[in-house]
Amino acid sequence: MRIAVLNGPNLNLLGTREPEIYGTTTLAEIEARLHEVSMGLNVELVFAQFNHEGDLIDTIHALGGRAPAPGVAPELRAKANGALVNAGAWTHTSLALRDALSGVALPYVEVHLSNIFAREPERRHSVLASGARGVVCGLGAVGYELALGGLVAQLRAAK
Ligand code: DQA
Repeated sequence: MRIAVLNGPNLNLLGTREPEIYGTTTLAEIEARLHEVSMGLNVELVFAQFNHEGDLIDTIHALGGRAPAPGVAPELRAKANGALVNAGAWTHTSLALRDALSGVALPYVEVHLSNIFAREPERRHSVLASGARGVVCGLGAVGYELALGGLVAQLRAAK
């Protein structure tokens, strides 16, 4: 089973970005921990972070089995069984992103480090949540691990 871990804008700044909200764990540390967890789960992970929305959309299309656009990274060109998606601020705004995920029927769990429902009003709505298998938020970096376990369990149960 192959799962993509997709992070959106500004998540490359984790570790130093507003640590009182997002903690001090870097994205590289989150990915390293997920890699360890994935070995116990016997799944293959691929990782990517995007600051440009179109690049993420092209990657989702490829992960969903469409012919990859030229700019899609080689390791992201093959079809995935599912994805963890922390879309950062696009969570609250991007119908294009939700359309991409549902357009290629890529099963996904939405992840947020912070509890978006306890933050500013403009962060309390997710346009991605209605298409997600589940949403994990407010648990910091460990939320990614929980989301991975949950998504893999769901995908295996559906087989
Ligand atoms: C976030 C929450 C979003 O509102 C914010 O724009 C982010 C990070 C989180 O992980 O808590 O960039 O997705």
